[in-house]
Amino acid sequence: MNLLMDFFETVRRRRSIRHFTDAPVRDEDLMAMIEAARLAPSPRNEQPWHFIVIRDQQAISNLRDIVNALLDAQIKGADSKARKKALKNKRFGATNVFDAPVVVVVLTKPFPNPDPAKQPIFNQGLQGVSAAITHFHLAATALGYGGCWVVLPLELAQFEIEAVLRVRKPWFAVALLSVGVPAKAAGKTKRKPIEEIVTFE
Ligand SMILES: Cc1cc2nc3c(=O)[nH]c(=O)nc-3n(C[C@H](O)[C@H](O)[C@H](O)COP(=O)(O)O)c2cc1C
Repeated sequence: MNLLMDFFETVRRRRSIRHFTDAPVRDEDLMAMIEAARLAPSPRNEQPWHFIVIRDQQAISNLRDIVNALLDAQIKGADSKARKKALKNKRFGATNVFDAPVVVVVLTKPFPNPDPAKQPIFNQGLQGVSAAITHFHLAATALGYGGCWVVLPLELAQFEIEAVLRVRKPWFAVALLSVGVPAKAAGKTKRKPIEEIVTFE
């Protein structure tokens, strides 16, 4: 799709898409998404991000297997029915990202803060990489694609996923993002009313 959406239309349309058609993602569109991420703001312009773009279906499927295996192990070891159920309910949230033709693994690294005491409060590196992911996600939407920004698979299998992708310290995986052509529109979503989220002084 070459006709770019108006910015606010893009922002309104951006939703978490978790079902995809088999249509491929064009390389030039992927490059446009990466370019949008590249232009994001970051603390001291450190640009604390790296994107591993996975298009190989076998590689995506391997990541899904890793997450499923670790979730299965947790379910097996759970000490109560309620815990088992809660873990089973995580399955879709933890694996939908692997249903897309493209999975982007987003890496970041600790932000070198001169005052370490402030690091946990402001987490500037995380703020920067989040801006880049947002740019990427919105660019995908503007180009007619959809996807879901997820963390759950990393909560379950961060070290295993990093090992498979040969991620080297100080880099670490912070999020995954799927990209594909939406198979169906996202369901309803809710947002807090404006009055609740803003204070004008
Ligand atoms: C940091 C972050 C982590 C998320 N993790 C997951 C996840 O692990 N699995 C999932 O299916 N969705 C995940 N989401 C998507 C949210 O559930 C979604 O953005 C939210 O419900 C609002 O819906 P919308 O994106 O369609 O507007 C995550 C979103 C963000 C920003």
